[in-house]
Amino acid sequence: MEQQTEKKKIVFSAIQPSGTITLGNYLGAIKNWTVMQEEYNCIYALADLHTITVRQTPATFRKNILDAYASILACGIDAEKSVFFIQSHVTTHAQLAWLLNCYTQFGELSRMTQFKDKSAKHADNVNAGLFTYPTLMAADILLYQADMVPVGADQKQHLEITRNIAERFNGIYGNVFKVPEAYIPKNGARVMSLQDPTKKMSKSDENVNACVTLMDSPETIMKKFKRAVTDSEAIVRYADGKEGINNLMGIYSAVTGLSFEQIEKDFDGKGYGDFKTTVGEAVVEALRPIRERYEKYIADKAYLQECYTKADEIAQKFSQRTLDKAMKKVGYVLK
Ligand code: TRP
Repeated sequence: MEQQTEKKKIVFSAIQPSGTITLGNYLGAIKNWTVMQEEYNCIYALADLHTITVRQTPATFRKNILDAYASILACGIDAEKSVFFIQSHVTTHAQLAWLLNCYTQFGELSRMTQFKDKSAKHADNVNAGLFTYPTLMAADILLYQADMVPVGADQKQHLEITRNIAERFNGIYGNVFKVPEAYIPKNGARVMSLQDPTKKMSKSDENVNACVTLMDSPETIMKKFKRAVTDSEAIVRYADGKEGINNLMGIYSAVTGLSFEQIEKDFDGKGYGDFKTTVGEAVVEALRPIRERYEKYIADKAYLQECYTKADEIAQKFSQRTLDKAMKKVGYVLK
């Protein structure tokens, strides 16, 4: 890894263990992680410290962490190529986050749209962690001197504040942090709800048919696709106002690699029923190996522990160097 660091660009990303992973998480983020590990020096985290900004039930939270770790491995994160660690196991994240808190203004955190949205949604628990969420995220990224951070559109503002914090700190103390670039994947599908395709697919949707998860059975997946909301035109083509079909085309394209043009040609003269069945079957086949690997990993806690212990150690060692450098610049006496 030490050697690779010098040659290859460093990619950092993280995902929260907040329940079952959805088709949207997979096609929008994790699938791209598996592509990037072929080309870059990738460091991925399970961001479990961020998760308690919303109240968790301990037993469920504990289960979600291991489940998410096993699921993401099952998606194809290769422990030989990438470092995939658990954020709460690496002590530097909370430590650097504290430092960065003191270089981040109340005003700039107040402007974060995710903070505004989440504090409206959880009005009874607008805690300080929810407010300083972006500085912990900045610490995650800056600790690894990441060049690139693949993120969805909803996290772009957090990447902007990360860059601002890094530049501000560097402006005072010299070059401590690499200023990272956001990386919005070219073919990262933005998967929408199957029931209301103007909304993002979300596991917290009240309508269970809106969201496909990686752990859904083939029958459930088929049922959800067959019930997907479309329009009345009955022509498979990508166009404004056809959000349901556009979403299904996006999903189908992401799992098969087919272009929209090819899909339109293949389904010329066919109805939505055929199309929904084909998309459902393609998703079932794409998720089948993932579910099988997940079943294997989740039954083998020793294997999971071996994977994260190895990754945690690498992450701790790497990030400690950045933390030490930052603390020294601020004036701390290192022990
Ligand atoms: N906030 C991100 C999300 O909810 C997860 C995350 C935490 C993250 N730390 C990160 C993403 C660092 C990218 C880089 O999606």
